[in-house]
This record gives sequence, structure tokens and C-alpha cells, in this order.
Amino acid sequence: MPFTKFSFLQLAKDFIQLFSSDVAVDLGTANTLVYVKGRGIVLDEPSVVAIEAGTGRIKEVGRGAKAMLGRTHEGIKAVRPLKDGVIEDFELTEDMLRTFIQRAIKHNFLIKPRIVVCVPSGITEVGKRAVVDSAEHAGAREVFLIAEPMAAAIGVGMPVNSPSGNMIIDIGGGTTEIVVIALSGIVVYNHVKVAGDEMDFAIIDFLRKRYNIETDYNTAELIKKTIGSAFPLKQELKMVVNGLNLKEGIPRSVEVRSEEIRIALQEPVNAIIDATKRTLEKTPPGHASDIKDRGITLAGGGALLKGLDALLHKETDLTINMADDPLTAIVLGAGKVLDDLEAYEKVLLHSKKE
Ligand SMILES: Nc1ncnc2c1ncn2[C@@H]1O[C@H](COP(=O)(O)OP(=O)(O)OP(=O)(O)O)[C@@H](O)[C@H]1O
Ligand SMILES: [Mg+2]
Repeated sequence: MPFTKFSFLQLAKDFIQLFSSDVAVDLGTANTLVYVKGRGIVLDEPSVVAIEAGTGRIKEVGRGAKAMLGRTHEGIKAVRPLKDGVIEDFELTEDMLRTFIQRAIKHNFLIKPRIVVCVPSGITEVGKRAVVDSAEHAGAREVFLIAEPMAAAIGVGMPVNSPSGNMIIDIGGGTTEIVVIALSGIVVYNHVKVAGDEMDFAIIDFLRKRYNIETDYNTAELIKKTIGSAFPLKQELKMVVNGLNLKEGIPRSVEVRSEEIRIALQEPVNAIIDATKRTLEKTPPGHASDIKDRGITLAGGGALLKGLDALLHKETDLTINMADDPLTAIVLGAGKVLDDLEAYEKVLLHSKKE
């Protein structure tokens, strides 16, 4: 083939591809995952930053910082820069994002990467700008945004461009997003600021009221993951929990049962069920009958609560399909988009420059 202008351009593009590492990021309230083109998921860490109380200097980012959540530790406090699915502290989010991207692509930072970032579908224009700015400051050459439930749908292999409606629920740490997708767009949208975090708070609250013991966020999360449930279990479970007795001011252990944790989780779980029912009610009849045929798909870490699928089935009378790996479905979907940006152009959210 003669060395035409076109082939030179292609060569230049290939060269950039070779020396840049395009990445997809699921920047979640609880966890951030990074996918690098050609390598898959290379980073999966809690969205937590530990800072020195006096100076505000960053001490730890990710897993190490999460271990400090809810504990005072030599003047260091651990914070989550995102809350309820939105950025609460822009500077910290940017620092966290930069650290994660550098950890993910290490030395391969010769040419700035293109980055696909997953954001909540209800994000405002200002919110979009903030994410784009953070990603640019964190080292991106170009930034593309995709709605989290859309990424989840692509991640689980839903035919998002088909005219029939597909319902997916992404239950994360901060938010639950319930959407119906058709023709590469979100046709029905609903969200509640109730997801995994609210379940943890409900457990902390319950232990305080019932047993007079104070537990931290990480303990509550462990209880939720180990014995938490939304529906009666074939075999009910129990576990020993350590906490600080509020009356005596000394550490105490109590044995808690899955039945009582289920009651403690009723409020957040019901909020998710009610939001799902409301979304089904406002779904146009054509799409509603598609959903009756295909069922509802669940993604996001919160979907892993034992028996949540069984309860949703009982309450909606629909088939409930669980993503193969609910925690990675979103970033894997964003990764598929990154691998073929042209084919997926229609599913991207565009951020207007102000
Ligand atoms: N086995 C499990 N059982 C119950 N909950 C779980 C389990 N594993 C993870 N989770 C919960 O899933 C939540 C995190 O899910 P995910 O990583 O999808 O959230 P996120 O994307 O960071 O949050 P958001 O999408 O709201 O910004 C946490 O609340 C975590 O405790
Ligand atoms: Mg999420």
C-alpha cells in the first residue's frame, strides 16, 4: 500500500494508542475501579482518602485509608470525597482520581490517556463539568462521560440499542438508580439516595438502640455482608460483634442474629423496593411488557445483599437476573465503550463547556 496521508495518520494514531493507556473509571461513592484498555480491570479500591487533620495533607488513598474510617488515629481522619453518588469534595476527588490513575497505568503515562468516567444518570451540567475538570486535572487528554446504569447494562451484555425496553437497577453505596433503556438511551429514570451505605447506618443504629453498643462503619458493613439479608434465609445465621458499650464505656461483644439484622435493614430495603415499583408504574406500556418478558437485571455491590433478588421477585412478580459480578459490571461496561468509542457514541453523555 502506498504511504498515503491516510496511512500516515493511521500510523500516528496507532503510535498514540501504543504509548497511551486509555482508561475507564467507575468513580463510585464506595469503590473506584479502573479498567485499562488491553489489560482489563487493574485497580479496585475503596473511594476513601486519609488526611492529616491539621495540614490537610494526604496520607493514604484507597484500601489503607478505608481501614481508618470511623477511627481517630493520631490526628488522621479518613473521608470519602463522594457522597450519595455525587462529588462532595472536588479537590480530594481529583487527588484520589489522580492517584488511582497513576497506580493503574504506572510508567505508561508517556501520552495522556483518554478517560471514560461513569457518572450518575441524574448528574447536572455543573456536576458533569466538575467530573470532566477532575479527570483533566488528573491527567486525561480527553474525557467521556457515561451514565452508570447504562455502563452496567453494557457490562452485563444487554442489547442497549434495541428498541425494546430493558430495566436495570444499580444499587451502589450511595445511590440506587433504576432505569429503563431502549435505543441507546435512558427512557425512564428514577433514583433514591438509599443503597449500601444506608444499610450500614441502619445496622449501626440498631446495635446502638438494641444492645447499647457503638460500632464503626467497617464493622457494620462486615455484618451486612456476612449475615445481612432482605428475605428469610434457608439457614439463618449469627455472628459475634465487638463494639464499645455506651453505658459502661468498655469494649463488649454481642451475638447478633440474621433475623434481627433483617428487621434492621427493612427501611432501606423497602425504600429500594418502593422506588422500583414506582418506576415500573411510570414505564410506558410497550416497555413494561418487554420487562415482563425479560425481567429486571441487578448490578452494583448493594445488589449482593442476600435475598434482595428474592424479595424483589416476590414484590414485583418479575424475573430478577443478577449480574455475574455486580461490583465490576459498571466498569466492564465502560471498558467495552472505551474499546469501541465510535460504536457506542450514542450512549455517551456530553458535557457542555460553560
Ligand atoms: N456481599 C455483599 N452483601 C451486601 N452488600 C455488599 C456486598 N458486597 C458489597 N456490598 C456493598 O456494596 C456497596 C458498594 O457497591 P458499589 O461498589 O457498586 O458502589 P459504588 O459504585 O461505589 O457507589 P455509587 O454507585 O452509589 O456511587 C457497599 O455498600 C458494600 O457494602
Ligand atoms: Mg456505582
